[in-house]
Amino acid sequence: MSENTSTFDVVIVGSGAAGLNLALELPATARIALITKGELKDSNTYYAQGGIAAVLDEHDSIEAHVQDTLIAGADLCDEDTVRFIVENGRKAIEKLIEYGVEFTTRKDSSGDREYHLTREGGHSHRRIVHAADSTGQAIETTMEDRVREAKNIEIFEHHNAIDLWTERHRDGRTKRVTGLYALDTQSESVKAFTAPFVVLATGGVSKVYLYTSNPDICTGDGIAMAWRAGCRVANMEFTQFHPTCLYHPKAKSFLVTEAVRGEGGHLLDPKGRRFMTKFDKRGELAPRDVVARAIDFEMKRMGSECMYLDISHKGQAFIEKHFPMIYESTKAYGFDMAKEPLPIVPAAHYTCGGVMVNREGRTDLDGLYGVGEVTYTGLHGANRMASNSLLECLVYSSSAAADISERLKSGVETPPPPPEWDESQVKDSDEDVVIAHNWEELRRFMWDYVGIVRTDKRLARAQNRIDMLQSEIDEYYGNFRVSGDLLELRNLAVCAELIIQSALLRKESRGLHYTLDYADVDDVNHRQPTKLIPKRYPKK
Ligand code: FAD
Ligand code: SIN
Repeated sequence: MSENTSTFDVVIVGSGAAGLNLALELPATARIALITKGELKDSNTYYAQGGIAAVLDEHDSIEAHVQDTLIAGADLCDEDTVRFIVENGRKAIEKLIEYGVEFTTRKDSSGDREYHLTREGGHSHRRIVHAADSTGQAIETTMEDRVREAKNIEIFEHHNAIDLWTERHRDGRTKRVTGLYALDTQSESVKAFTAPFVVLATGGVSKVYLYTSNPDICTGDGIAMAWRAGCRVANMEFTQFHPTCLYHPKAKSFLVTEAVRGEGGHLLDPKGRRFMTKFDKRGELAPRDVVARAIDFEMKRMGSECMYLDISHKGQAFIEKHFPMIYESTKAYGFDMAKEPLPIVPAAHYTCGGVMVNREGRTDLDGLYGVGEVTYTGLHGANRMASNSLLECLVYSSSAAADISERLKSGVETPPPPPEWDESQVKDSDEDVVIAHNWEELRRFMWDYVGIVRTDKRLARAQNRIDMLQSEIDEYYGNFRVSGDLLELRNLAVCAELIIQSALLRKESRGLHYTLDYADVDDVNHRQPTKLIPKRYPKK
């Protein structure tokens, strides 16, 4: 075996909440590789603000959380999945507390401490447990410490997974995953990882849009890798746009949590008037699809570059206590949210669709698992309810870990290593500008043509452009040595195509997919997820 190949029991790609929790829940005897693009903490998880939804209050109920999720999902959720996740919410939170995550508490009526629960859009009760407004950072850093302590977990930072390696079972038809290739971006060499189990925990693809709340790592790599390897994907048309990202030329991707509205914040137009009740009786706490569309509508109607979010009426002490990070960060951009409204715009935030998995996180490919935002489980339907995402990451990574543990116990043979990465036919790129240009073009036309409001004509335009880009990228990929930017661009293009194809198939408006050509819900023809089947999908 070459020195560039390493063998493990489980290879996990991605170090957000889903990947880290899975790594920690596997048995200490399992040899685990944890591969991640940047440093461990570089993830969406680190930036999560609002918190995690779970039924912890005695006046709340599992049934209420289930119903709220189904309503937000616009009749497209899988109810069994919703129940499974909601029922496991308390256990997931208790596990985080056991790891050492310090959630915000308050004194109850008898003076004892209890967890402070905040509220967000679509939730009928206060049920969001949080660590002030930096919940993700608390979760990520606590789990990172635990993972770094674990002797059986080998960490590969700055490794960019390129593609999965598969082989056919003896029946000649079905396949299994046997490992993957990854680019070590520091040594600029490609390495092979061999394992009977590979887990994609690579997050979503909001970076496919020009404006996003997500950090740079969210380029849909896991979705594209699984698709290329023959796995089905579902509901890719449902990109969630978060209504309130800070509008400031220097504020790249800065989110202002929905909990600001949950705690009484108002949305205002440039003349200082509230407008949300014109669109929905739930006002500022309507589900995100409704609020983002209302903001987009008002911005276009008034020819305004942004709308405003105002919580100044709550006073400085309240704001500093509940939103310390946002208060300080927006101050650095020149705003004082205790005295004035913040300018905000919607931006791409969350990928509701993804790689299809079953209850244990198994994909269509034997040995390949998916957990977290990379997947489609059926929880979110046509629109994710706030703070249900981290919950899904934790519950599904636990059930995947349990399934892999059982399979490891019954003994699995180590697969053969993949062949050496072949660079004999490629040379160093001489025109990196092409990659940068294509990145920009792709993200811009996705924003313009496949955004909050769609039409068939805009989608067809996007389809034409993606066809052209795909062939340019394929040619580039075939001729030049791989780089991080090229790999991400290639994956973004695959995901963009999946989003456009899914959007073209859904000839109705539902949840996050809104098209002027079919403005109504069509329950007769479209009350089901959009499933795409790749050419390499094994015929059973
Ligand atoms: P991520 O946390 O995104 O992690 C993905 C990991 O995969 C990263 O480590 C990345 O580097 C790695 N990776 C990706 N591709 C590769 C590759 N090719 N090779 C190697 N590694 C790779 N949800 C909530 O429930 N509550 C909230 O309050 C909340 N607030 C949010 C606030 C913001 C600003 C954002 C952006 C999202 C928020 N969300 C929230 C959504 C939630 O944070 C994410 O859905 C969740 O963290 C996803 O976790 P994950 O583990 O699936 O993926
Ligand atoms: C937020 O805090 O507004 C984000 C919550 C989420 O995306 O679930």
